[in-house]
Amino acid sequence: MRSARFLSVVLVVSSTSVSALDLDPKNADSIKSAAKAVAKTVVSLYNGNKSVEIPGIFSTPGFYWWQAAPVWDALVDYSFLTGDTTYNDIVGKALQFQVGPNNDYMPPNQTKSEGNDDQSFWALAAMTAAERNFPAPNTSIPTWSTLATNVFNTQAARWDDKTCGGGVRWQIFSFNNGYNYKNSQSNGNLFELSARLAAFTKNATYSDWAEKTYSWLEQVGFVNNGAVYDGADLTTNCTSVSHLQWSNNAGALIYGSAIMYNLTSDAKWRNRTSTLLNATLTTFFKDGIMEEVACENIGTCASDQTFFKGITAIHLARTAVVAPFTAQSIMPLLQSSATGAAVNACTAPDGSCTLIWTASANNASTSGVTSLGTDFSALEVIQANLVGSAKSIVTQNGSTAVGGNSSSSGSASGSTAKGSGVNLAIPGLLSVAQIFGLILLGHVVL
Ligand SMILES: *[C@@H]1O[C@H](CO)[C@@H](O)[C@H](O)[C@H]1NC(C)=O
Ligand SMILES: *[C@@H]1O[C@H](CO)[C@@H](O)[C@H](O)[C@H]1NC(C)=O
Ligand SMILES: *[C@@H]1O[C@H](CO)[C@@H](O)[C@H](O)[C@H]1NC(C)=O
Ligand SMILES: *[C@@H]1O[C@H](CO)[C@@H](O)[C@H](O)[C@H]1NC(C)=O
Ligand SMILES: *[C@@H]1O[C@H](CO)[C@@H](O)[C@H](O)[C@H]1NC(C)=O
Ligand SMILES: *[C@@H]1O[C@H](CO)[C@@H](O)[C@H](O)[C@H]1NC(C)=O
Ligand SMILES: *[C@@H]1O[C@H](CO)[C@@H](O)[C@H](O)[C@H]1NC(C)=O
Ligand SMILES: *[C@@H]1O[C@H](CO)[C@@H](O)[C@H](O)[C@H]1NC(C)=O
Ligand SMILES: *[C@@H]1O[C@H](CO)[C@@H](O)[C@H](O)[C@H]1NC(C)=O
Ligand SMILES: *[C@@H]1O[C@H](CO)[C@@H](O)[C@H](O)[C@H]1NC(C)=O
Ligand SMILES: *[C@@H]1O[C@H](CO)[C@@H](O)[C@H](O)[C@H]1NC(C)=O
Repeated sequence: MRSARFLSVVLVVSSTSVSALDLDPKNADSIKSAAKAVAKTVVSLYNGNKSVEIPGIFSTPGFYWWQAAPVWDALVDYSFLTGDTTYNDIVGKALQFQVGPNNDYMPPNQTKSEGNDDQSFWALAAMTAAERNFPAPNTSIPTWSTLATNVFNTQAARWDDKTCGGGVRWQIFSFNNGYNYKNSQSNGNLFELSARLAAFTKNATYSDWAEKTYSWLEQVGFVNNGAVYDGADLTTNCTSVSHLQWSNNAGALIYGSAIMYNLTSDAKWRNRTSTLLNATLTTFFKDGIMEEVACENIGTCASDQTFFKGITAIHLARTAVVAPFTAQSIMPLLQSSATGAAVNACTAPDGSCTLIWTASANNASTSGVTSLGTDFSALEVIQANLVGSAKSIVTQNGSTAVGGNSSSSGSASGSTAKGSGVNLAIPGLLSVAQIFGLILLGHVVL
């Protein structure tokens, strides 16, 4: 990922807002049709399945290699959550084309600027494909989980005890800016990948690494009382921590901790999950709607940062599945955030969405553009509301994984969605009227 210093505004100016995307976040059919409209917009920005362009990459200048990974992750989940397989073929090809000669998401075209977090976002997308039994179009490529494991192995080998007591660096190569920085994104992704591999394989090596990476993040002060800070320079042994907070860093840690709690039933992991979650819900939500507080309202979100809320939204939804005790805190806020996106951001007739989901979206100086990241984030927050009625994910052996369908007696969406759903059991769901009440304060729409 690029540093927050580099502002890249390569965005498309949206038309003046006239209407809102139709969405009832408690009705699965409504969620699916809203997700379908936004997914179509996301895919419309992709040229990689045309012969003139490279598969797996969004080639528009200002879109970066790593950004494609969460998009493929979202579209794998889109297929799983909605049953619409329209994009499976291009998504499978994209995830396979970028594996590189060692099948570890280090393709030579990218390595000169590739960071550990860039690489791990691709591994997490492959993991999503593994857990959802996503079809692999080309049998000459290793399985999705093998690709994820290969990335894990490269990063475990980069663990560096020489400074800051451990951690992986932000950058892989010494010639890149950021080689002397250790950050929460790289280490948080490695933690999440370890936890997901632990759940998928039951191999204790991965749970050991989850414990090791998380403990280090606390020890070095990147995680402190539920807050997740950006990172620190290693030349001063990480003693001066940047206190910038990005929602997606917290999202990776919350989901990984929730998986570890489910795997171990250890109160320590429950406490970590709950402490992180409480801080996130306080820091990154305003009037029940998610916002990227470090950049959104001052109009400085760079291209990368427009992806963060979407990444966070789906991580919170997945957390609600594997740690049901969190569902009653999380799901109502995903409903109100999705409604906020539909009403305040997805107002263009073409299904594109702007950045800001709160009522401040009517401030044209901070919100009036749409891009891959803003469309992606809207897709994730909308489809996040389908997790309660989804099928179970799988493990290596095809059995039900953590987060699986162990007890099924209804669906969180309160709709007629099919599938052996996990019952998220959300007492006191906000009514649509309450949600609208929240987000319409001081803002006239419709
Ligand atoms: C690219 O993918 C889209 C979406 O699946 C499809 O509609 C289109 O026909 C594809 N184009 C080519 C050249 O394969
Ligand atoms: C690398 O770049 C070359 C030249 O643009 C292109 O032909 C090739 O498909 C790219 N490979 C990958 C994996 O992106
Ligand atoms: C399958 O992957 C191999 C190895 O990357 C490649 O040579 C081949 O062209 C791919 N086949 C298809 C149908 O994509
Ligand atoms: C560097 O930081 C680590 C972790 O906080 C600590 O264990 C170690 O003693 C520090 N090293 C030096 C030389 O201060
Ligand atoms: C567990 O995972 C580690 C790391 O990938 C690997 O080296 C080891 O062989 C695995 N163990 C088993 C029993 O598969
Ligand atoms: C939960 O974690 C916090 C620090 O994050 C700690 O202060 C508290 O004692 C822990 N509670 C339990 C029950 O472990
Ligand atoms: C998080 O907030 C919930 C709800 O307010 C509370 O029950 C729980 O104890 C909090 N967790 C921690 C670790 O403080
Ligand atoms: C819109 O956002 C800009 C940038 O943060 C701010 O200066 C301005 O006061 C805002 N306008 C309104 C009407 O909120
Ligand atoms: C999965 O299958 C392998 C090989 O048959 C076996 O060693 C392993 O214990 C199984 N894991 C689980 C979680 O069932
Ligand atoms: C683990 O996940 C399953 C399925 O979602 C859930 O039923 C179970 O309660 C979870 N276990 C714990 C300890 O939260
Ligand atoms: C859970 O899902 C598995 C795999 O999809 C299926 O075989 C099993 O019947 C389901 N169990 C329940 C209780 O729905």
